[in-house]
Amino acid sequence: MCGIVGYIGTRKACPILIEGLKRLEYRGYDSAGIAVLNDGRIDIHKATGKLMALEAMLESGMPEGFIGLGHTRWATHGRPSDENAHPHSDCTGRITVVHNGIIENYLALKEELVAAGHEFTSETDTEVVAHLVEESYKGDLVAAVRSAIKRLEGSYALAVMAQDDPERIVAARRHSPLVVGVGEGENFLASDVPAFLQYTKRVHFVEDNMIAVLERGEVKFSSLDGKPIEREVYEVTWDAAMAERGGYEHFMLKEINEQPQALRETMRERLSSQVSKVDLPGLTLTSDDLRGIDKITMIACGTAYHAAMVGKYAIESLVRIPVELDVASELRYRDPIIDDKTLGIIISQSGETADTLAGLREVRGKGAKLLAITNVVGSSVARECENVLYTFAGPEIAVASTKAYTTQLMVIHLIALYLAQVRGSISEEQAKQMRKILWTIPQQADVILGDHPEVLACAEKYYNHNGFLYMGRGPNLASALEGALKIKEISYIHAEGYAAGEMKHGPIAMIDPSVATVAVAPQGKTYDKIISNILEVKARQGDVIAIAYEHDDQIQKYADHVIRIPATHELMSPILAAIPLQLLAYYVAKNRGLEIDQPRNLAKSVTVE
Ligand code: M6R
Repeated sequence: MCGIVGYIGTRKACPILIEGLKRLEYRGYDSAGIAVLNDGRIDIHKATGKLMALEAMLESGMPEGFIGLGHTRWATHGRPSDENAHPHSDCTGRITVVHNGIIENYLALKEELVAAGHEFTSETDTEVVAHLVEESYKGDLVAAVRSAIKRLEGSYALAVMAQDDPERIVAARRHSPLVVGVGEGENFLASDVPAFLQYTKRVHFVEDNMIAVLERGEVKFSSLDGKPIEREVYEVTWDAAMAERGGYEHFMLKEINEQPQALRETMRERLSSQVSKVDLPGLTLTSDDLRGIDKITMIACGTAYHAAMVGKYAIESLVRIPVELDVASELRYRDPIIDDKTLGIIISQSGETADTLAGLREVRGKGAKLLAITNVVGSSVARECENVLYTFAGPEIAVASTKAYTTQLMVIHLIALYLAQVRGSISEEQAKQMRKILWTIPQQADVILGDHPEVLACAEKYYNHNGFLYMGRGPNLASALEGALKIKEISYIHAEGYAAGEMKHGPIAMIDPSVATVAVAPQGKTYDKIISNILEVKARQGDVIAIAYEHDDQIQKYADHVIRIPATHELMSPILAAIPLQLLAYYVAKNRGLEIDQPRNLAKSVTVE
């Protein structure tokens, strides 16, 4: 994880680096640091803890200079400390490096470098890069970086600056994200676009095994063996305001509230009216390709995996094709049965999750056709899949995923309906009905967000509870898992999600007055069963919060609290159920006085395996 930034131009580098780091802090916040080249020397400042610690340190004076690097860290090798904070330097302090990724062979390299007389000052894997560049540096920084990275195993997005070569930044990438922002007489680099969005929307996405050299007036790309490479410039559609809190106390709350609009954007052009058929512009898979598929494998991590779980229900029910699900970190080690009749659906908000990318490559290697669902244009997942359907959620900054999840669900339902259309697996009458129901989801999301006193009452009553159990059935098993994940990650309360029918096989032993149970219970095939499960909890003195439809006039007899959502099709109900679950997690964490956008130990984009 970690976030890196770089700037070369005519403005003072330090404020630009700090602003950029603020927008990348979601990637890690164990420490932060900057290096600015000024008057022939590199001035480094770093501090343990969140960026505000570094900002406080810089209050007494920011380094001058028009070229610099910055870093915000999610610790892997070496605890969070000033010594382990980036940037890292060589023995002379003339070369400095920031890095995102893991250098897997760093111990062997470190031993070799120490034997050659290099002195290390940190426990990080990154520091070997600075010393390797020092070893090879004979006045040409690009050549030195090239020869250093040939020695590296693992993943990296690196940026290097040298005191003796003050007119450029050299960057390189392998399996960690890196983008270059193109300005007028200035250029930027970063792990993610929002870092420089206020200055430019013109970007180059750096590919694996590529070197980028940033000077004030130009950016050049080359391969590891020095061959020049032409790169296309993309125009990013996000704007800087989208990556701001916009008056909300937290990004998470802003992003929860953005869901109706994000859902509309994601649906637009694909379902242009309630009477039109589903269209998936940009899909290169032909109708024949789609008719030839005999299995779907969905791969994702975390919240995106929960979206895949809903996808299994929707696709199997409407298209009648078997859908396999895999947590990406497991898939590649189980030798899955995949061939050219398999469609691999890869789901990732960031498009940079290392496990998901490894899973993608595994299924591609076995001949599957690929379709990505991602939120980030130009991300690795988007570039490595021949078919991409974007979730138009806009930048998601809070670590806890909200609008990315519900828009992933929207895309999944569109895919299910499109496949059903192409394969004729449901009648046109049924398809029409389903499309109508999907069409109303964004306005129903608006209703949920309008007023939610019961969510606030539950958050007030239960924020000090010892634990939460979440239960659901059918597609809402995913809602139970997602609800539990949300509350765990931002409120640090122990929570588990279960298939409601599994409660009696173990989890029910946890029930006592200090554990609250959230039952996701929209009316559908298994409504009566979940009512029985609620009663089982009540019989053991557990409090129950039910998420139920507005018109359900039974459930209040059984549950202590009922949070209402508008009625929809059972398969689509996880989209609406997600919203009160997100709000509940948010307000519980807020009542506990916690750091909602940057929960401990986590990072937004998990670019290490
Ligand atoms: O960017 P991705 O969708 O690939 O990220 C996957 C998970 O890391 C992510 O969903 C994570 O579980 C969220 N923090 C959950 O809120």
